Amino acid sequence: MTEKRKIVVLAGDGIGPEIVAATREVLDRVAPFEYEEHLIGGISIDENGTALTDAVTDACRASDAVLLGAVGGPKWDEAVARDPKAQRPEQGLLGIRKALGLYANLRPVKPSPALIGSSPLKMERIEGTDLLVVRELTGGIYFGESGRRDDNGGTAYDECAYSVPEIDRIARTAFEAARRRAIGRGYGPRVTSVDKANVLESSRLWRETVKVVAGDYPDVELDHMLVDNTAMQLVSRPADFDVIVTENLFGDILSDEAAMLTGSLGMLPSASIGLEGEPGLFEPVHGSAPDIAGQGIANPLATMLSAAMMLRYGLAMADEAGRIETAVDAVLASGIRTPDLFSGSEGETEAGTAEVTAAVLAELN
Ligand code: NAD
Ligand code: IPM
Ligand code: MN
Repeated sequence: MTEKRKIVVLAGDGIGPEIVAATREVLDRVAPFEYEEHLIGGISIDENGTALTDAVTDACRASDAVLLGAVGGPKWDEAVARDPKAQRPEQGLLGIRKALGLYANLRPVKPSPALIGSSPLKMERIEGTDLLVVRELTGGIYFGESGRRDDNGGTAYDECAYSVPEIDRIARTAFEAARRRAIGRGYGPRVTSVDKANVLESSRLWRETVKVVAGDYPDVELDHMLVDNTAMQLVSRPADFDVIVTENLFGDILSDEAAMLTGSLGMLPSASIGLEGEPGLFEPVHGSAPDIAGQGIANPLATMLSAAMMLRYGLAMADEAGRIETAVDAVLASGIRTPDLFSGSEGETEAGTAEVTAAVLAELN
């Protein structure tokens, strides 16, 4: 027997432990894995005084893949409000992304056929949507110099800087992904590079650099779109997009917006990948949902679909990944829905996390 693949599990805060536990049941059903659980985020601040310890970073480095729930919550927001020097749970997440060199965050947006009617957007707009947001994850305004000054009655600043190599590598990720997606499809690969080049110098360098990289991908159609326009186009004609490549902050915002094309933020998975040989990190796009934590009603499907991305991109287990995705689609087709997706239409049944998980497990049998 081949050695079991080692998965570091970082459940985190809020609904994190609930959706990760549900996902582990699903993973166990498709293959045996060795798990190692570690703390990150608010719970790590409580236990260890910091949102990410070196031991956890080392454990992640030594693993084959990392599965993450979510971090953050009002408890730690309040601690920072009391003491601005207190750590934030989110620093743990940013820290592990940076430490593992996870510069590319892939967020596929493809509504399950059963959920076409569940989006607040008109069905005829959603139909045919199948896009991928490639979000730069370790640069830009998230990692620039930031701080406060005393001038003008108190000032705060966050620098947004991008280097040519940073833009070059994420652009290549996007062009390569576009090529892969176009295999066997009726139309060619397309990349939309999103920036704010009419205002920001960092965006002008972004655009210039993407154009240079495009020279190596003459088969891929490239266009450039300003981010404000993109926010609008994403809801007016989502099916026209193929791959969207953009900087860290724009990708964060646009992917939450795009999540609603699938019916709920609770549906959107992601894969963060980086340097060759380093493990990837797989997590839902949504956060710790403190408003519903502990109620047993969180939608576990984004995390299960993130686990499927882990199997496909992180562990080269495409068949097992496909089994999970097929099972999720089948459960949605059967009408079982957590409250975030439930509309009360005929054929739908409202269910909690445990019932949805049981339904996915039953499909996997
Ligand atoms: P959120 O994504 O946690 O929640 C936004 C809304 O979506 C809430 O109404 C929530 O109930 C709902 N929602 C999210 N996931 C859901 C799911 N799986 N099932 C059902 N409903 C779901 O965003 P927020 O409220 O702005 O942030 C809460 C905390 O999470 C903050 O501390 C934030 O920093 C953190 N956060 C963490 C991550 C992460 O760990 N990757 C991502 C985003 C936000
Ligand atoms: C995400 C989250 C994080 C981000 C936060 C929690 C740091 O919103 O993964 O989308 O902004 O990257
Ligand atoms: Mn986000």
